[in-house]
Amino acid sequence: MLVCEYKPGLEGIPAAQSAISYVDGLQGLLEYRGIRIEELAEKSTFLETSYLLIWGKLPTKEELHDFEQEIYSHRRIKYRIRDMMKSFPESGHPMDALQASAAALGLFYSRRDLHNPVYIRDAVVRLLATIPTMVAAFQLMRKGNDPIRPNDNLDYSANFLYMLNEKEPDPLASKIMDVCLILHAEHTMNASTFSARVTASTLTDPYAVVASAVGTLGGPLHGGANEEVIQMLEEIGSVENVRPYIDTCLERKSKIMGFGHRVYKVKDPRATILQDLSEQLFAKFGSDKYYDIALEMERVVEEKLAHKGIYPNVDFYSGLLYRKLGIPTDIFTPIFAIARVAGWLAHWKEQLAENRIFRPTQVYNGQHEVKYSPIEERE
Ligand code: SDX
Repeated sequence: MLVCEYKPGLEGIPAAQSAISYVDGLQGLLEYRGIRIEELAEKSTFLETSYLLIWGKLPTKEELHDFEQEIYSHRRIKYRIRDMMKSFPESGHPMDALQASAAALGLFYSRRDLHNPVYIRDAVVRLLATIPTMVAAFQLMRKGNDPIRPNDNLDYSANFLYMLNEKEPDPLASKIMDVCLILHAEHTMNASTFSARVTASTLTDPYAVVASAVGTLGGPLHGGANEEVIQMLEEIGSVENVRPYIDTCLERKSKIMGFGHRVYKVKDPRATILQDLSEQLFAKFGSDKYYDIALEMERVVEEKLAHKGIYPNVDFYSGLLYRKLGIPTDIFTPIFAIARVAGWLAHWKEQLAENRIFRPTQVYNGQHEVKYSPIEERE
């Protein structure tokens, strides 16, 4: 029996009860555990925010210190995982490499002790600690270099940039990277989080949960849009070309990357913060002509699509910022994944606390009582 109307994309259908984050799409408001994103971006760190998301409260000084030290001491990856990654084709997308590597962790830590808080803590620490190392390792190995070891003197984001670029980062660059991770850490029932919760609901291991979410995040309608935004800005090439480019998109009914959102009908608050961070980077390291193109795009899209609630989303300005940090375009979405691991793990824990396997229904619109036809009689 059909109990409610079918909604493509499950628009507006609650898939869970959650206390992790909150979005008001008309006000442009985002909170993690009740705290405004603007405040976290200004005052917190990514690991403190991860703690908040996963354990539901801000840590004390001692709790944060212990959490950070545990993560720092688990940043190295097993040599067998490194060897496995070495055999990945250099031309493969880093998101595919990350998905395979995250899933491979399940081979090494196959125990599923989901009721044991020590097991949960270990999995949280291991995933937060090793995902950045895997992203950086693939980046170096596909260039033919050996991955470099995590640097014990560097914090989470500085160490990631160090492992990625093989040199200690500028302090402003590390600080901005850390804020980017805070901004991307969690966002209610988005597609990859839904994927994570569905996978979690089968009581599989957390590595499978994260691997399935990484696979979902990579698509261009979700996290993969940040990469497509840069390709689009490069294709447009100049401020004068913006208007004709947008007109063509609208004529062809193709989506303008980095714009629109299922929930926000105003500018995504994360886009506003990312734009501000980009300007800080441009002020220190020099401007970027693609930023002028982006500003013009925002103006023209607003003029033409504000009536539909289409404004920049989180993926619009992040790519420009990562580009200024010298990060290759196809590493943008893996950075989104590094951050979102915190949100996925928070949802994994919440799902386990009151689990029921996801098993929605469907509206069958096929045939019934069809006769099997022998192969020689088929056309
Ligand atoms: C993320 O869900 C989350 O929270 C995701 C995220 C997170 O933190 O997890 O915020 C991260 O995924 C950001 C979104 C990144 N994707 C893109 O930037 C790709 C471009 N955006 C769109 O494809 C689209 O806006 C989505 C996928 C983000 C949302 O899709 P919906 O809600 O299914 O909306 P839709 O495609 O049904 O569009 C509704 C209307 C349509 O017009 P009409 O047919 O009603 O006249 O809005 C138009 C669309 O044509 N529209 C756009 C548009 N987005 C929507 N028109 C032009 N360009 C766009 N980008």
